[in-house]
Amino acid sequence: GKVCLAYSGGLDTSVILAWLLEQGYEVIAFLANIGQEEDFEAAEKKALAIGASKFVVVDVRKEFVEQICFPAIQANAVYENVYLLGTSLARPVIAEAQIKVAEENGCFAVSHGCTGKGNDQVRFELSFYALKPDVVVIAPWRDPEFFKRFAGRKDLLDYAASKNIPVAQTKAKPWSTDENLAHISFEAGILEDPNTTPPKDMWKLTVDPEDAPNTPEDFEVHFSKGIPTKLVLDGGKKVVSEPVELFLEANALARRNGVGRIDIVENRFIGIKSRGCYETPGLTVLRSAHVDLEGLTLDREVRTIRDQFVTTTYSKLLYNGMYFTPECEYVRSMIEPSQKTVNGVVRARVYKGSFTVLGRFSNTEKLYDETESSMDELTGFSPEDTSGFIAVQSIRIKKYGESAREKGNN
Ligand code: ARG
Ligand code: SIN
Repeated sequence: GKVCLAYSGGLDTSVILAWLLEQGYEVIAFLANIGQEEDFEAAEKKALAIGASKFVVVDVRKEFVEQICFPAIQANAVYENVYLLGTSLARPVIAEAQIKVAEENGCFAVSHGCTGKGNDQVRFELSFYALKPDVVVIAPWRDPEFFKRFAGRKDLLDYAASKNIPVAQTKAKPWSTDENLAHISFEAGILEDPNTTPPKDMWKLTVDPEDAPNTPEDFEVHFSKGIPTKLVLDGGKKVVSEPVELFLEANALARRNGVGRIDIVENRFIGIKSRGCYETPGLTVLRSAHVDLEGLTLDREVRTIRDQFVTTTYSKLLYNGMYFTPECEYVRSMIEPSQKTVNGVVRARVYKGSFTVLGRFSNTEKLYDETESSMDELTGFSPEDTSGFIAVQSIRIKKYGESAREKGNN
């Protein structure tokens, strides 16, 4: 039968490809273009040379930005306070494209090179089963036949040599990466000691904040219903609005100013703690601007419910690979209605790794009223009302204070 393998051109998936052929399968090699820096032609040549019967690249950048990254900005998605979910966001789009390629080519199975300890295996496979419930998943890194035979990197290299699989001459990096339009991740290898500071040359997408330009760069982000619709740079000389272009331009802006680096220890879905370093340039800038505009345009209680329920739940569902589930569909449907009033412009600055807001305005939303907010104005507001407001609020708090004093706790 035919198997559709998610193929990257690297050592692991090249060995998996050869191994699948050895098991008697016909292999369709699939590679998603999700904005990673990659030599797609070299990967194609290599896959075909190893023996894949076909190589398919699918460009999913537009879907990724419009259907995944923009809603994530609207929802202020974030995992454990800091991780903007770069890898998690990409998985549903990649899985969808892979299943489509599998179906178009009559494959009964799909395969991937994810390890048995990570989040990605869960994300891919739960997505596969939602999109094609009868699909067979071949996960070599969880198959004893495979992982016992390839116990270390040397076994992979020996096997590659025996199969005439060319291995890139560049020395393997002492960490593993995953890259897409929104971010790059660095994990494993020397990073496994959470107290090891990553070397300066590990970071790839952003310049070191210390080496960034000595002059700040100012820009504007325009939002309509919480979606970035325009990015204005260079004092108005550069304006981009097409979603992918806008995202790429936000990336370039943040990259050259060193914005978007984090170094964290996170909790993987399967229960293991893991250290990861991430660069998320454009998404950091766009999300920060969005958070700011909500201050001006979003109702307090809508915001509270969104923050406490939608943001947290949606982020966790994304992280855990539950994108194609009934609960995620439901939570996703709550994002848009929360964003009706998030219309306006944020003026901001990036400078040596920092993002700061310079100002914001909205021509359509009137929740913020300068006169009402002013400390120098009394129109439309009676100070006496606030005495009653505080008196009523204090009823319960006085009771609390009384009993605390009686028990000697206060
Ligand atoms: N820890 C991050 C996450 O779970 C990044 C995973 C990177 N994946 C990879 N195959 N290298 O989202
Ligand atoms: C992997 O296991 O392939 C990478 C790590 C992860 O998925 O979290």
